[in-house]
Amino acid sequence: MAEHDSGDDLLEKITNLAKRRGFFFPSAEIYGGFRSAYDYGPLGVNMLRNVKNAWWRSMVQLRDDIVGIDAAILGPPAIWAASGHLETFTDPLVDCKKCKERWREDKIDGVCPNCGSTEFTEARAFNLMFKTQAGPVEGEGATAYLRPETAQGMFTNFANVLATTRRKPPFGIAQIGKSFRNEITPQNSIFRTREFEQMEMEFFVPPAEADTWYRYWIETRHRWYLELGIAPEKLRLHEHAAADLSHYSRGTTDIEFDFPWGFDELEGIANRGDYDLTQHANASGVRLEYFDQANNERYVPYVIEPAAGATRAMMAFLLAAYEEDVVEGETRSVLRLHPRLAPYQVAVLPLSKKPDLEGLSREVLGLLQPHVMCDFDLTQSIGRRYRRQDEIGTPLCVTIDFDSLEDRAVTVRDRDTTTQTRVAIDDLVATVLTRLV
Ligand code: GAP
Repeated sequence: MAEHDSGDDLLEKITNLAKRRGFFFPSAEIYGGFRSAYDYGPLGVNMLRNVKNAWWRSMVQLRDDIVGIDAAILGPPAIWAASGHLETFTDPLVDCKKCKERWREDKIDGVCPNCGSTEFTEARAFNLMFKTQAGPVEGEGATAYLRPETAQGMFTNFANVLATTRRKPPFGIAQIGKSFRNEITPQNSIFRTREFEQMEMEFFVPPAEADTWYRYWIETRHRWYLELGIAPEKLRLHEHAAADLSHYSRGTTDIEFDFPWGFDELEGIANRGDYDLTQHANASGVRLEYFDQANNERYVPYVIEPAAGATRAMMAFLLAAYEEDVVEGETRSVLRLHPRLAPYQVAVLPLSKKPDLEGLSREVLGLLQPHVMCDFDLTQSIGRRYRRQDEIGTPLCVTIDFDSLEDRAVTVRDRDTTTQTRVAIDDLVATVLTRLV
């Protein structure tokens, strides 16, 4: 019987597994850690890349109406003045008068989570952007900001993309990259950090089609998580009330995931109207419009934006995939990750370290490596190696035994069912690829 954890227990198990197996580590750990940042280890770097590739595949590769860009992280104040971030990208900050801890007023219900006091200073608006200096010149002209979202790169490049790709609305610009927010209370492992990765797409549409596309993108993005293996009951949609909308939004729906502390935001889909293009056009003096030749009409497209977090999505995929079950009388931990997300798709395991077996195993490894990410493990008993691969989510193990030297066939073991099948080495690549879709 498979068992699912809930609550803090699961969060702790995933955080421990992440550190023990090498998904992610607290950053700067040898110096006591840096609470707001994480480093991705050998498994995590593969998985995070897979999450981003899966998003890029569905948003760019499989479509003919979305193109990608990769914009700069550093930007001048002008961008953030026009976008509204300098003025409104703030959290209300209060200090506890008793223990002096600093909190986000909207997150603590009037009680200090540290000491229980109910006495706080007046709330102050705290801007979440990281400010720095570009170049050696001190002063206003050299001020730069680390972007708090990737979205503005799509708006400031709207005219460039339109001119170079000859697209017409509806069309989208997608970007994956790092964003930075000076979060007051970074928390819950990689859920909320000060440095994180976003996967955002700005879809430019004729204003009359905005609502249809808004609904389309809510549905399409919801399906993406389902197709990558998250159970339907672990996801829900939450439409924001008008009073809770961001300064740019005419409508926002969050896709929420059932995190160990309850349902929380995984991705937001917003109808940003013509806010951003109008703001940047006014501030820069550059026209950011589309001229529709067929109707001889010039208009500012509306923007529908699905905005996801790559690092936050990785956390959700890990939590959703974790299970404990009993195999041959022994409890095992297994990550039932979608094969496209797993850090390794295949583990190649020689039954023993004997040189002729290792030689054939390396030959098998060489056949598979051009097609899928492989682990190669020679250590410990085969049973323990299977458990290790189960725990890191590897969908298939390929075991090379002494018979393999005679019959040039190997055993393919399935992570989820633990069933084993014998496959000729000549057919292995084709078999593995069909089983990993
Ligand atoms: N361009 C719109 C925008 O940035 P957002 O809701 O602030 O919207 C989008 O961010 C997504 O980015 C969130 O749903 C979340 O997945 C991710 N994200 C935001 N802040 C984050 C943080 N501090 N740490 C990790 N992920 C974060």
